[in-house]
Amino acid sequence: MKAEIIVVGKIFDVTQSKLDREFTCHKLYEAADRNAFLKQHAAAVRGLATFGASGADAALMDALPKLEIISNFGVGVDAIDLKAAKQRKILVTNTPDVLNECVADTAMALVLNTLRRMPQSEVYLRSGYWATRGAFPLSTSLGGKTLGVLGLGRIGEAIAKRAEAFGMKIRYHNRSRKKVAWPYDADAVALAKNSDVLMVATPGGAETSKLVGAKVLDALGPKGFLVNISRGSVVDEPVLLRYLREGRIAGAGLDVFEGEPKISPEWFGVENAVLFPHVGSATLETRTAMGDLQVENLRLHFAGKPVKTQVT
Ligand code: 8YV
Repeated sequence: MKAEIIVVGKIFDVTQSKLDREFTCHKLYEAADRNAFLKQHAAAVRGLATFGASGADAALMDALPKLEIISNFGVGVDAIDLKAAKQRKILVTNTPDVLNECVADTAMALVLNTLRRMPQSEVYLRSGYWATRGAFPLSTSLGGKTLGVLGLGRIGEAIAKRAEAFGMKIRYHNRSRKKVAWPYDADAVALAKNSDVLMVATPGGAETSKLVGAKVLDALGPKGFLVNISRGSVVDEPVLLRYLREGRIAGAGLDVFEGEPKISPEWFGVENAVLFPHVGSATLETRTAMGDLQVENLRLHFAGKPVKTQVT
């Protein structure tokens, strides 16, 4: 007998086919009546496959009294109520490590594109301005600049190593000091003060909510750049929008936003920002590896074995 699971939102089709092979999948996102759907499956469902912003809240857990495991597609579990899961003895798993290199590549793409203004230069060319207005205005070099990594986890370290190869100096702030040679700053404001580029690579969630606000951006200053590869919630977005418009920081490169994918339309008009639609881990190879780990955690659990990557 295949174990029964609920798939919360539409996921990568390669992963969905693998889930279908091993489990009986009920798709919550296809249900016309969510409550009726949950009632119908409550007695049989033992697993939940979720991802990113969909997460899982306490109400969903309560609607599924036989739930044993929540398997997340993605490393960030800020949209899963971990406390509620723990209280109900529900295991939570995620997909760390397999995405580190890919997300770090995206982070460096944001640094390059933001400082060198590559997307803006392409728009300039496509608008026909090269011949009519002359050379594209000069931009900012990476070499010799300091990259301050806010949140030196596994992804933060992968970013720092890449940035070193670009000739950048590294500093960091983290909840706990790491055994690394890079200089440590006591808080986000001190790090921003000492950095040319502030790289946000912390987890999301209540602890880091609006960590980057006016104080941090003031410390970064009018020549400083902000890059966010983590979660939109870590940055005070209205403040960032204002600071970009007023030139209080030089520019920003963002892969994540408040309320994504329905981001504030104000972003569409901000010229000194490079904006990616949350593509940090979005390659075929990495998404396949993430999905495989999500499936493997479910498989191991239902076989009575320890899961591979347990969060709580
Ligand atoms: C995924 C991510 O795109 O791993 C994460 O936490 O944000 C991304 O890699 C996302 O979780 C998939 O929805």
